Amino acid sequence: MQDIRNIVVLTGAGISAESGIATFRGPGGLWEGHRVEDVCTPEALADDPALVHAFYDARRAALARVTPNPAHLALARLDEEWGGGLLIVTQNVDDLHERAGARRLLHMHGALQSALCAACGVRRRWPGALPPGSICPDCGAAALRPDIVFFGEMPYAMDRIEHALGSADLFVSIGTSGAVYPAAGFVQRARQAGARTLELNLERSAGSAWFDETRLGPAGTLVPAWVETLLAP
Ligand code: OAD
Repeated sequence: MQDIRNIVVLTGAGISAESGIATFRGPGGLWEGHRVEDVCTPEALADDPALVHAFYDARRAALARVTPNPAHLALARLDEEWGGGLLIVTQNVDDLHERAGARRLLHMHGALQSALCAACGVRRRWPGALPPGSICPDCGAAALRPDIVFFGEMPYAMDRIEHALGSADLFVSIGTSGAVYPAAGFVQRARQAGARTLELNLERSAGSAWFDETRLGPAGTLVPAWVETLLAP
């Protein structure tokens, strides 16, 4: 592994599946009984804020009933022990990576335990319920919303992600269907930069052809095995 120094890891809903959090594009295409477009668009928030806020309140409350699985723990170990560059980019809005101990981590699609003020743009930690009309402590506007990147909105930290992909030697995608851009395009960007690319997923993703190697199986098994090999002396 001497030729690998900088690693970018992209994770999606599949890495949290074994912790008991539903993926987005599971059987029936429903997410916890809702179509994604009914709870994950700016239009849905404007049309039915009570539904959208209640949906994310329920997802936030559900975090208390789940724990990190061996895949999250393995990535936290990688973060702790890998001496080279590492960026873990997650599309997930749960907090299982950080609860496992990962630090070099970015939530590109926002976070359940965060609120965003639609008036002043401040993001703040928000562990409890967030009813519509909640007051922003910074600007006083009744404009707090779930800090989730909805379809049509710009994901967070794209500059940092682009920088990391541009100098990656290894790009690893874990538990994501490859259906949502820009994350689905990271593999091609990493290839342009000369990175080796590896996919760890239950089934082939939409962009599977872009990967040098695909390993199929549950993340809770594949990720610890991959990290073990990478860190082996
Ligand atoms: P998806 O639900 O689209 O895909 C989950 C992927 O994980 C699928 O390819 C599954 O086969 C795979 N999978 C399921 N269980 C697994 C396991 N135990 N081990 C390994 N892989 C497993 O979820 P994402 O790709 O994360 O956006 O979805 C991307 C974005 O779409 C989400 O971040 C969300 C959604 O709209 C926002 O919330 C903004």
